[in-house]
Amino acid sequence: MRIVLLGAPGSGKGTQCKQIVGRYSLLHLSSGDILRRERASGSELGKEAQSYMDSGALVPDEIIIKMMAKAIEKAPDSGFVLDGFPRTVNQAEELDKTLANDGRSIDIVLNLEVEDGIIEDRITGRRSCPQCGAVYHIRNLKPKREGICDNDGTELVQRPDDTPEVVANRLETYHRQTEPLVDYYKNNSTFFDIDANKSADDVKDILFDKLDALVAT
Ligand code: AP5
Ligand code: MG
Repeated sequence: MRIVLLGAPGSGKGTQCKQIVGRYSLLHLSSGDILRRERASGSELGKEAQSYMDSGALVPDEIIIKMMAKAIEKAPDSGFVLDGFPRTVNQAEELDKTLANDGRSIDIVLNLEVEDGIIEDRITGRRSCPQCGAVYHIRNLKPKREGICDNDGTELVQRPDDTPEVVANRLETYHRQTEPLVDYYKNNSTFFDIDANKSADDVKDILFDKLDALVAT
């Protein structure tokens, strides 16, 4: 199964992908997580991406397309779920070409729809574990001990691009450059809008319904 999860910053892509990969044995391919790992390792790619990420702009297509094609190559036969990629129509076209080279295509596109008004609260309240990548929220999804990861006891941190100013830029970038993808996919694949204003558990149930139906066909 090859899935694209679309959605604005803070719409819950990472949170839901973790649930999806557990249930359907897929590889979670998050372009943002891959870029953050490249930055942490001090690689050339990480250095190139840094200023774009910190300002809330998109990293140039040619860098991202190459990086994600490499990641997709390593995915198991069971498939993958893409989180944060593609983010421009050009990226989507290149993804389709890469998959078509091996006779593959995207099976389903799920678009997490969230009102702009609740995004800032979700993002500025997010805390993540630098060790295992687990994601929490200071009110919506609290760790058992405040500020400490449930999985490994590591101190939780805030992403540097999660400040109100950068979030505003990320949202503007999303509406201008990524939202046009909705029309791209509506015309091309199995596409579903998902009401992601609901609780994370409710959203998960809706996504599982769609994916179970796909698996059953
Ligand atoms: P990326 O890391 O992809 O960031 P993003 O798209 O801005 O999305 P987020 O990770 O912030 O949010 P999310 O949807 O994963 O939400 P989450 O589940 O964490 O990209 C970062 C940067 O990298 C970009 O700005 C760009 O510079 C660059 N980049 C990446 N991909 C690129 C590409 N393809 N092309 C070019 N540049 C690229 O949830 C957020 C919070 O809300 C959490 O605290 C969570 O607990 C909580 N929450 C989740 N769901 C719910 C719910 N239903 N109810 C209440 N709270 C919830
Ligand atoms: Mg994410």
